[in-house]
Amino acid sequence: MSDEVQIKGEQGELVVVANRLPVHRTDSGWETSPGGLVSALMPILQRRRGVWVGWAGTATSELAAFTHDGLYNVPVPLSEEEVRDYYEGFSNSTLWPLYHDACQQPQFHRHWWRPYVAVNERFAEIAAREAAPGANVLVQDYHLQLVPGMLRQARPDLRIGFFLHIPFPPVELFAQLPWRQRILEGLLGADVVGFQSRNGAQNFIRLVNRYTQYRGVGSSIDVAGRPVQVREFPISIDYTNIDRLAADPATIQRAAEIRAELGENRTVMLGVDRLDYTKGIDQRLRALHEILRAGRHTVRDLVLVQVSVPSREKVDEYIEIRERIETLVGHINGEFGDVGKMPVHYLRRSLPLEELVAYYVAADVMLVTPLRDGMNLVAKEYCASRRDDTGVLVLSEFTGSANELERAVLVNPHDIDGMAATIERAIAMPRAEQVRRMRSLRQRVRRRTVYDWADDFTAVLAAAGTGGPAGGAVAAKTTGEKR
Ligand code: F6P
Repeated sequence: MSDEVQIKGEQGELVVVANRLPVHRTDSGWETSPGGLVSALMPILQRRRGVWVGWAGTATSELAAFTHDGLYNVPVPLSEEEVRDYYEGFSNSTLWPLYHDACQQPQFHRHWWRPYVAVNERFAEIAAREAAPGANVLVQDYHLQLVPGMLRQARPDLRIGFFLHIPFPPVELFAQLPWRQRILEGLLGADVVGFQSRNGAQNFIRLVNRYTQYRGVGSSIDVAGRPVQVREFPISIDYTNIDRLAADPATIQRAAEIRAELGENRTVMLGVDRLDYTKGIDQRLRALHEILRAGRHTVRDLVLVQVSVPSREKVDEYIEIRERIETLVGHINGEFGDVGKMPVHYLRRSLPLEELVAYYVAADVMLVTPLRDGMNLVAKEYCASRRDDTGVLVLSEFTGSANELERAVLVNPHDIDGMAATIERAIAMPRAEQVRRMRSLRQRVRRRTVYDWADDFTAVLAAAGTGGPAGGAVAAKTTGEKR
């Protein structure tokens, strides 16, 4: 805990605006949520009179601001209808599938768009109130794409950064969005717009050129004389923390227990995902089904532990994917299992980080097979946990991580036979090849951590000019397109 605790009512020099607060409520009060983003931003926020503006995770009316762990938290209240329409609806049933290659049909509803605008306005108003003159504001993710424009209009003195944690889609897909121009103009309120990959940044510039009056050249867009920097900032993990946990004797002991429980002579494969249709969990299970059906492997030499963390459980597509996955697990275990030995161990819960790292240490093959993923930090955590340089990472080519983790074994999760063959190759990979690949993967992950991500983003933002009163208040310029 920092000794420079933010005093209630004092404005912040650095304000993070995110859908969720970095804390969640437990029986004993607020607790800091796990995750790289929170740990990366926490030291800078604690140093620089930081404020975090976000939703507390349940429908509430007003909630008082509070200080936790040296950070001033300002909750944004959402009603039950807003949770349904802004969060489950527009954010997670329109934008989420659309931005993930439309791997589920995105739903376009005007009665979701209006609450999205209203909730973005509320976040922007609170951020405008909480930011000190000339403060830096970091707006996070797809829930809040209108906030930069709204904030610039209210507070042209601020330096505003926006970072998208998920993929940004190509022109052909984004163009479907009835509110495309409003979203693009909302994002253009920022001084720096950051994406996970170069593709995302390029897609954004192309879309701006096509659907707004502004022009982008190279990595800069001219918004009425105000330059907007557009760049990729691939996010990562707290490598040292994962490496330290993997070296802990308690973790090593737990990993040995996991292996003993699963059977010493079996190849242990692992999947760890939020229970989300973008993660390719069902495709992975179907590939396993093919492997067992072909008969070259049996339940005696192979096991998959699939950890699925419940997520967005009220959204129809998430209810459906859970049913699909659980049916598949039942089929595979019914067809290929034996009393006391099952090919799939399915854990539908979140695990504490220490336990998760023990699973990473125990696993011979890690399966990360999303249909589309902005980055995928599980892939990086697995590498950071492999201190003896063994283990094989099977990684979907449609993840942001695949841009960096070139020595992983890449797969196309849509190609079930191809994925089955690749997994068999991973199972059979000689130790020397595992070591060659894993050594290079670990180096890549060690070289660029989430702290570098935070430093890069804040440095580019600090170097960016502020718009000033004449600096193109984008939100005011919206034209013809549907509201
Ligand atoms: O990857 C995008 C993201 O919004 C993360 O920021 C978050 O941790 C995860 O999805 C879970 O989302 P939710 O806040 O909907 O539970």
